[in-house]
Amino acid sequence: MRVLGIESSCDETGIALYESEKGLLAHALYSQIALHAEYGGVVPELASRDHIRKTLPLIDQVLNEAKLKRTDIDAIAYTAGPGLVGALLVGAAIGRSMAWALDVPALAINHMEGHLLSPLLEEDAPEFPFVSLLVSGGHTLLVDVQGVGQYQLLGESIDDAVGEAFDKTAKMLGLSYPGGPILAALAEKGTPDKYLFPRPMTNRPGLDFSFSGLKTFAMNTWRDSEQSEQDQVDIALAFQTAAVETLAIKCKRALKETGYKALVVAGGVSANKALRKRLDAMSQIQVYYPRPEFCSDNGAMIAFAGAMRQSAMIKQPIPTFSARPRWPLDELSPP
Ligand code: KG4
Ligand code: ZN
Repeated sequence: MRVLGIESSCDETGIALYESEKGLLAHALYSQIALHAEYGGVVPELASRDHIRKTLPLIDQVLNEAKLKRTDIDAIAYTAGPGLVGALLVGAAIGRSMAWALDVPALAINHMEGHLLSPLLEEDAPEFPFVSLLVSGGHTLLVDVQGVGQYQLLGESIDDAVGEAFDKTAKMLGLSYPGGPILAALAEKGTPDKYLFPRPMTNRPGLDFSFSGLKTFAMNTWRDSEQSEQDQVDIALAFQTAAVETLAIKCKRALKETGYKALVVAGGVSANKALRKRLDAMSQIQVYYPRPEFCSDNGAMIAFAGAMRQSAMIKQPIPTFSARPRWPLDELSPP
């Protein structure tokens, strides 16, 4: 079965072709970073218009690369939420109308399920069950994963997502958009232990997160400093260390609670080197990540989630044409 994947939930147009027997056949990604950079963040209307411009040419590009025709597609998976509603509607409209024209199933995929399953695209894939830490610009989730579509939420952010806290702290430090990876690169030059930032919500039980206080702590430290280049890198490092340590503490707790030995980390922040180093150092735990290019948004994870759902014959939670800006993982139906 060949599945075309369409990702258009935010500022990246991602298209991919996945075949159940052969794996990933081709993929392409167009990032809108340059488009939004001058505004310091994503402008939803501009994002939607750009997805309209890029989706069909990218579909043709991946089909050419895979030496296939549109009629060779057996199903079309598109991101139906969560995300920016206008951007989602572009992928939904193109995906569903193409599927209707080709008379193949249209699969409405949850973006966070796409991230969650993305490490299974790798050769060294984890086996169920596992704990998943999903760290993106909009979500910080700890999930007990028992199988495709069998997700139990263990914890989530009660305010800013960790990626959002990276981006806002970066902006406050005067760094450009998208701030997360830029802050992470700067942090490598910081002086260890120059500042000690709090590890929010780690001194009480539970698996929820809160990163907005950490962001404010960084802001106050910056305001009270001389705002030199050295202060900038030292604060970047202190923020990153605190965020990473907080995530690691909660992962360890979730693994202990579930008794699982495998941790799967995905979403944009899973590209963070300090986070990977910290999690890899946990004893007796095997940690799995997507390859770096599939940490952030991409079409491959959507095509793959579509193929997994289709082969398990899991009914789609969105049977008609729509998109959901908010769509919690634990509302997905089990097989
Ligand atoms: O998964 P993703 O591409 O999009 C969403 O679904 O939100 O995640 C984007 C987030 C942004 O907040 C970005 O700053 C963050 O991931 N990010 C990073 C790194 N690379 C991307 N944060 C910290 N360190 C990184 N290396
Ligand atoms: Zn994402």
